Amino acid sequence: MAGNWKMYKTPDDTKKFFEQFNSLVAAAQHCEILICPPALDLTTAVAATIGTNVQIGAQNLIAGKEGAFTGELSGYLIKSAGCSHVLIGHSERRQYYHETDESVYEKTLAAFEAGLKPVVCVGEKLEDREAGKTADVLIRQFRGGLGKLTPELFAQVVVAYEPVWAIGTGKTATPQIASDAHAVIRKEAAAVFGAAAAKSLRILYGGSVKPDNVKSLMAEAEINGVLVGGASLKADSFAKIVNYL
Ligand code: PGA
Repeated sequence: MAGNWKMYKTPDDTKKFFEQFNSLVAAAQHCEILICPPALDLTTAVAATIGTNVQIGAQNLIAGKEGAFTGELSGYLIKSAGCSHVLIGHSERRQYYHETDESVYEKTLAAFEAGLKPVVCVGEKLEDREAGKTADVLIRQFRGGLGKLTPELFAQVVVAYEPVWAIGTGKTATPQIASDAHAVIRKEAAAVFGAAAAKSLRILYGGSVKPDNVKSLMAEAEINGVLVGGASLKADSFAKIVNYL
């Protein structure tokens, strides 16, 4: 169960969030819990979750270790801050910062090199869906972003299916729509990496997940977890999502 805070919360807000959140999810043993705050808050979040069942991830990285790249963060720096995960290829990064399937692939390799677990996002836009191209887009993003990984690395990837039309819009994909999309991704994973790898691949659904719809989404066998934006910003609301059972 993963939360993506996007560009919200100060270090002080972050500290207050975990003061409330940690105890609300301390008993959760059915899942891994991940929060991805803005880069500025990573060290605060890591310090606030030491010894808990909450893991911390960044929202982006660039390849390489250190260098003259003003304004950027490498996996090495993110890992050094105590993070375990990194989001890659979120639709907002593809849309506003020109990320491509190729850069998603490079960033995924960079995450592994730094010892971070990548959560790689894919998802179609509304016009793709309306044109009947959802499967084509998902297959292209999967192949371009992940298809060239070695089987050993692929086994450690988490994929997040995030239909762009459902992000921040209040329009959640129905459990059936999400499940069908996950099945497309899993089928492609089977074609490239084999049936066993596809079966154990974890695919999260993201897009307007809330405490009141998480249960029906998680009831789908194809949906292995969720990636939550808006509803992860409040400790009680994200704790309800984590504790959906
Ligand atoms: P949302 O965002 O839950 O606010 O729709 C999801 C995401 O972009 O990861």
